[in-house]
Amino acid sequence: MKRLLMLSLAAGIAMTGASAVQAISEAEISKDIEEFQGFFLKRFPGLTLDDFQDGVNALPQYAARRANWEINMDFPQYEPEMDKAATEWSAPFANGKSLADCDLAPGNTYPVFDAASGDLRTIEGDINACLKANGEEVIKNVKRGKMARLVAHYKSQFNGERMAVDYSDPGAQDWYAKGRQIYWAKRGQLNFSCADCHVHNSGNSVRGDVLSAGLGHGVGFPVWRTKWQVAGKPWGTIHRRYGGCTEQVRAHPFKAQGEEYKALEFYESVMSTGIPLKVPSLRQ
Ligand code: HEC
Repeated sequence: MKRLLMLSLAAGIAMTGASAVQAISEAEISKDIEEFQGFFLKRFPGLTLDDFQDGVNALPQYAARRANWEINMDFPQYEPEMDKAATEWSAPFANGKSLADCDLAPGNTYPVFDAASGDLRTIEGDINACLKANGEEVIKNVKRGKMARLVAHYKSQFNGERMAVDYSDPGAQDWYAKGRQIYWAKRGQLNFSCADCHVHNSGNSVRGDVLSAGLGHGVGFPVWRTKWQVAGKPWGTIHRRYGGCTEQVRAHPFKAQGEEYKALEFYESVMSTGIPLKVPSLRQ
């Protein structure tokens, strides 16, 4: 806990100075994982690491609403959309190939650091790169609708595989350091960091919502969300969710698939190391 507070201070200082994000080692990252996970396992003693795959539904503070979620998960509303995504995945391009022929990272390994370009590859970015390489139109909205559905389809093949993002490359460690800084830095008119809500206040309520633990974030994404469904766009990727959370503190959201949210996704995925993938999921 002390270290978590120190991290948040360090991030705050880094944001006010012009200095670049500090380099970080593989050993330090492993230690971060241990401390982050240890914090939540202690805060929620009834839960195992695997339980955190269900987001807020895992928390005892949410127990009264969990039954309803379970009933909905038995016959999830997204089923027909998942069938549609499967068809879209194998639908032939003009050149006869399909998304099934794309050169994607195998297994539950996204986001993947690409040493050749120094870039962090997300599944959304790779799907669009593949479409482009095959002369097809890219998917413009990268945070909901068709893209989210396709990502849900692709990732769902690896359900049950434990999160194991590779952070061994120094380039990947830079992405991690950047994501960690964004996670712990205060922002917006409300001056809140991600950690203020999802670490220090996890399990507490804010405006009728219980705040999920930061541990497990991303493991269920893309999700089908009741709140988004009301506006007719139920699917959302993790970057869509980040955008909503950034707006909640009255800050301008970063761009979906931009560097900031990619780094954040990397950081959150590393923190969730060892938790089994469970895609898609339902959220309120
Ligand atoms: C003012 C409090 C607040 C802040 C700050 C905040 N969030 Fe959230 N966040 C919420 C609420 C409320 C929800 C919906 C309930 C839940 O799942 O926690 C949520 C949900 C999420 C979820 C979905 C979890 C799931 O499994 O469905 C993710 C991921 C997330 N936030 C990430 C972030 C990140 C990253 C940041 C920093 C950029 C952030 N949040 C900042 C309040 C906050």
